[in-house]
Amino acid sequence: MSESNHVVVTRRIPQAGMDVLEASEARVTVVQTDEEKGLSHEQIVEAVASADVLLCQLTEPIGPEVLSANEHLLGVAQMAVGFDNVDVAAATERGIPVANTPGVLTDTTADLTWALLLAVARRIPEAHEYMVGGRYALWGPNLLLGYDVSPGGSGRRKVLGIVGYGRIGRAVAKRAAGFDMEVLAYDPFNRDGVEGDEIATWADLPELLERSDFVSLHPALTDDTRHLIGEAELRAMKPTACLVNVSRGPVVDEEALVRALAEGWIGGAALDVYEDEPAMKPGLAECPTAVLVPHVGSATRDTRGKMASMAATNALAHLSRERAPNCVNPHVYETREYRRRVGG
Ligand code: DGY
Repeated sequence: MSESNHVVVTRRIPQAGMDVLEASEARVTVVQTDEEKGLSHEQIVEAVASADVLLCQLTEPIGPEVLSANEHLLGVAQMAVGFDNVDVAAATERGIPVANTPGVLTDTTADLTWALLLAVARRIPEAHEYMVGGRYALWGPNLLLGYDVSPGGSGRRKVLGIVGYGRIGRAVAKRAAGFDMEVLAYDPFNRDGVEGDEIATWADLPELLERSDFVSLHPALTDDTRHLIGEAELRAMKPTACLVNVSRGPVVDEEALVRALAEGWIGGAALDVYEDEPAMKPGLAECPTAVLVPHVGSATRDTRGKMASMAATNALAHLSRERAPNCVNPHVYETREYRRRVGG
């Protein structure tokens, strides 16, 4: 290891990741050890200024100013598959490799998608509240009626519409076989990937919204997917359809969603992510047909441990001036800016 050996971890990560870092010769600093607190912009800038490599979370915006705080920064290792908080173009311009943690959280996130889909369809949180609120006095033929996911009483196969057909979208589609569903998929960037797939059938977004009983969102957040689902799209859905979002909050216009739920344009929504996370738009918490959880798509012990160790491995590769296994801007390694940064 060269004398560049300082890995700055913005917030405490699972021990599996710390074990990887601590087994190396790196000097490791964790900036924020209080789980309830994030970092201010100034703290992020300071963290970068003192780091050889930054290991960060999706809660830290890593923009041009932050990236300019240290002309010797060797890389950024994000502990998440999504990296919309990192300005990758600005990093590339400065010769900084950025890495993420793809793959390992696919199944875990697909499982949560299904947990949410079933919860909103069958009104599980309302039913739980009913029980713990001591209201269950008599079984009722009309009590807490929800929507079928399987063909159920109507015998009609339900349609699952998946928007964003990458690893997680496809893992969600695979699970639909157990419910005998028809699967439609739309991907703003990868029509070929859907058309070559044996589970889903391609549908343009308007058709998908019109036909689906459940719409599940899985695109990366980019300028093209911000507010992909707004008022017009919500109005195009069936009044009984449920929307599930485990991707990124800004993919949905949350104010429009609150109106859609309050006015019954759609049957329900289950959200893991929010437009102004961790805040919710006014009125959302009061919607009885909303199921809301705090960005826990990948939150299992094993998966978070593996994400942490992957991020640590990426960080150590940056530190050693080697190609990080999960670099999202690999062409950076061919740039003059990168060579200058690593002193090559
Ligand atoms: C991710 O990895 O992008 C998730 O949102 C958090 O695990």
